[in-house]
Amino acid sequence: MMKRVGFIGWRGMVGSVLLKRMEEENDFSKINPVFFSTSQSGQDGPINNHISCNVLKNAYNIDLLQEMDIIITCQGSIYTNKIYPELRKNNWKGYWIDASSCLRMKKNSTIILDPINYHIIQDSINKGIKTFVGGNCTVSLMLMSLGGLFEKKLIEWISVSTYQAASGAGASYIIELLKQMGMLFNSVKKELFDDCTTILELENKVTKMSRSSSFPKKYFSVPLAGSLIPWIDKKMINGQSREEWKGQAETNKILGLLENKVLIDGICVRISSLRCHSQSFTIKLKKELSLDNIQEIIANHNQWVNVIPNNIEETLLKLTPSSVTNTLNIPIGRLRKLNIGSKYISAFTVGDQLLWGAAEPLRRMLRILID
Ligand code: HSE
Repeated sequence: MMKRVGFIGWRGMVGSVLLKRMEEENDFSKINPVFFSTSQSGQDGPINNHISCNVLKNAYNIDLLQEMDIIITCQGSIYTNKIYPELRKNNWKGYWIDASSCLRMKKNSTIILDPINYHIIQDSINKGIKTFVGGNCTVSLMLMSLGGLFEKKLIEWISVSTYQAASGAGASYIIELLKQMGMLFNSVKKELFDDCTTILELENKVTKMSRSSSFPKKYFSVPLAGSLIPWIDKKMINGQSREEWKGQAETNKILGLLENKVLIDGICVRISSLRCHSQSFTIKLKKELSLDNIQEIIANHNQWVNVIPNNIEETLLKLTPSSVTNTLNIPIGRLRKLNIGSKYISAFTVGDQLLWGAAEPLRRMLRILID
């Protein structure tokens, strides 16, 4: 019998990308989908070539949720913190697949990224684990790009700088970023096409607009367009941001490393790209390897990673958020040995934060459970 799969938070950014990918892969033909809503139960659910949903069910109704074999939620941590404990207290034995972060580090959960940790996912299923959580987007995208080096246990440590898209903060943040961009443009709309205006006059007007009290910054607190924000998420007691803390903690959990952990630290930065996170790595390898060998190990790891030769043309063409957006490609380039020493390499990667960074690992987990 086909599994009953409950969807919660399917209208948001990650949820919409998940549904789109499920349609592309014909996943709906293999399940009996039930759509829930936290605010619009009773209204019509989604309808397209693959789904013709009945009326939306109430996402707070524990009895209805209990009827599901699998629940997949992109609703966020507040919903998970409220509903998940109640369901488990009621002895619900179904699989919970979650995009939010709140259950990631719990003992009874597994962080899912099957091209990296398929055997850990399978082991967990065999052991009766029922809670599977998508990883932090930068962590998943880093692992997808450097999977080969992790698999062969070649990495001693990584120092990382991230360049994270507005989508990672949420839909309202993307909208605010676009409003900021629009206001900056409008502030010099006339002058841009007037040859008499000097570049410093243009810059002054734009800067003045970005500092004016009418500039939209309800969500980011400060301008992001034309600027950046070197802090993401809460502060931890050691001075890291929570986003920076996740790098090492989640990576080692995904890899199942309880000892000899890979050391990872760095600075996470919000930039004005829309939905692609980029990351710049300095990597210390455990042993000396030729650059050719390193590139081969990286390229052979999975079908999505793509080594971009370290030249200007291909870097500009293939290693940018605008070229990667809305694809499953994981390009990695700028690979070279550093002056620091022969075991040190640099690398730069880009990945779609909503696909491999969020929705795709959840979709693939669902497939593992239903296949
Ligand atoms: N925490 C990430 C970000 C989102 O703010 O970009 C995805 O895990």
